[in-house]
Amino acid sequence: MILITGGAGFIGSNFTLDWLANPDAEGVVNLDKLTYAGNLANLASLKEDSRHIFVRGDIGDKELVASLLKEYQPRAIVNFAAESHVDRSIHGPAEFVATNIVGTFNLLECAREYWSGLDEAAKQAFRFHHVSTDEVYGSLSATDPAFTETNAYEPNSPYSASKAASDHLVRAWFHTYGFPVVTTNCSNNYGPYHFPEKLIPLVILNALNGKLLPIYGDGQQIRDWLYVGDHCSAIREVLAKGKLGETYNIGGWNEKANIDVVKTICSILDELKPRVDGKPYTEQITFVKDRPGHDRRYAIDARKVERELGWRPAEKFDTGIRKTVQWYLDNPVWIEGVVSGSYRDWLSKQYS
Ligand code: NAD
Ligand code: DAU
Repeated sequence: MILITGGAGFIGSNFTLDWLANPDAEGVVNLDKLTYAGNLANLASLKEDSRHIFVRGDIGDKELVASLLKEYQPRAIVNFAAESHVDRSIHGPAEFVATNIVGTFNLLECAREYWSGLDEAAKQAFRFHHVSTDEVYGSLSATDPAFTETNAYEPNSPYSASKAASDHLVRAWFHTYGFPVVTTNCSNNYGPYHFPEKLIPLVILNALNGKLLPIYGDGQQIRDWLYVGDHCSAIREVLAKGKLGETYNIGGWNEKANIDVVKTICSILDELKPRVDGKPYTEQITFVKDRPGHDRRYAIDARKVERELGWRPAEKFDTGIRKTVQWYLDNPVWIEGVVSGSYRDWLSKQYS
């Protein structure tokens, strides 16, 4: 078995589905608290698959985590569980400290205790893979070189600060205890099952619903977009072949300004689902108040993972974004399930 945490969220569910698409794959114990961001509908296709065991719970629950490790004896843990939305971290940072820092600490301690009791062969084989973000490196100017694994940590939001803290804990558990960790720091993901609080799914749904498309500030902030399937393949590579104690930057080589991302989505929708009045979706674009402390640019230098492990993203932004828009058009039932009362409360809190 492997233990995945946060496997009902956006990336964790994509990873679980991709992993179990291989008939020879080890089974998955999926520990997820099912916060607003966790959604069992993402995993509906695994209902009949006995290799997938879902457990609702908190990575911060010591007894639960210890008992799962004892019962399922996983040979690896992949830690996706986190509070992941920057805007929510600005409104309420406490949950970010609780899950991203204290939760990761608890997971590390439980896993270390379990690992210490394994026989030598199992100990050698064991891996703790921590899934982190490029946001820990802070913000780049237009001319700065892309983030490498040796960039200093300069987190700017409560979210990125909490992820940075968790990365430091993971690093320290390797250096102090010899605990076998690998960390990946990835750029912005997009694709199926993305919760519509984040830019790309929010814009797709707002466009289809005739709502405004909110662009923070001047819309010239740059993100390096990676199709979620590529992130999942990178994690599989690093889990299988990554050097212990190392970090690997994962990115899409796809730097785009937010306004250009939104215009691209609009033009795909103009083609696939034209507005009834025949006007372009770009008419719905509106510039709104900027995010406090908004990082200007992220860009990942992903040469290390290519050089050492042979990984490169397969998807180009043009093809990945088209697939993503099509996925949202094809999945109205999933959308209906996520735009619940609590989602509407969030929209009115953030965009009113
Ligand atoms: P998400 O918000 O969609 O999902 C997070 C999942 O974690 C949810 O299912 C939630 O229920 C679960 N969870 C939250 N707190 C928990 C707790 N205390 N115990 C157990 N489960 C808990 O996030 P995502 O976008 O899928 O991100 C997954 C990971 O990847 C995060 O660690 C994030 O920092 C990192 N990451 C995300 C991106 C991105 O673009 N989305 C990029 C780089 C790194
Ligand atoms: O870089 C990796 C990170 O990418 C992950 O670690 C985070 O978990 C993930 O949420 C994402 O963070 P961002 O803040 O970059 O993603 P978000 O989709 O929230 O915003 C993308 C850009 O779009 C950012 O510059 C803010 C802007 N934006 C966002 C929203 C929601 C808008 O202009 N309008 C919006 O309504």
